[in-house]
Amino acid sequence: MSDRPDLAVLISGTGRHLANFIRLCNAGELPARVTVVLSTKPDVRGVHIARDAGLRVHVVRPGPAFDDRVTAALSATPVSLVCMAGFLSLWRFPPGYEGRVINIHPALLPAFGGKGFYGLRVHEAVLDSGATESGCTVHYVDDQYDHGPIILQRRVPVLPGDTPTKLAERVFEQELIAYPEAVRRLAAGDATKMRDER
Ligand code: GRF
Repeated sequence: MSDRPDLAVLISGTGRHLANFIRLCNAGELPARVTVVLSTKPDVRGVHIARDAGLRVHVVRPGPAFDDRVTAALSATPVSLVCMAGFLSLWRFPPGYEGRVINIHPALLPAFGGKGFYGLRVHEAVLDSGATESGCTVHYVDDQYDHGPIILQRRVPVLPGDTPTKLAERVFEQELIAYPEAVRRLAAGDATKMRDER
């Protein structure tokens, strides 16, 4: 991978990670650039963030030939790393993308991941389980939800009186550190070391 990767950011909603990537790239704090944004929904905050930043945006709604339509959209722009960030669909990518598609999940995978584990549901499940810690995971994407090899994790305590919202906020603070850090290390060619950190 290039030491300054071209990022595609795949979203379905609020785009806080997208905004963070754009900010860090513009500030020179992340050696990368966002070249394209793909959203499964047309009128979400993340799409507006992308357009305001002057980025190319593709809206690809779930439905027939979804995988092919995503692949076609991404192929129109140089992309070295695909970052899923709040992307709620499964993209079964074609050969050539292996090791170049990553995701962030707001729990310590392999726990509390998989289809249906998104948003506050993740944090509700963590609290219901009685777990004493949670966190976030950046991982390579494969053909299952929240499943590929782990790149890095950051942990937070579960505190007395936590609600799903409070826990989500604490985890998200760490997500904003974890995701750029994973991209930095991938750009530096440190993927093997990253895998060993689990
Ligand atoms: C994050 O919590 C991430 O872990 C999960 O979806 C959320 C995305 O947030 N996959 P945003 O869409 O970037 O605001």
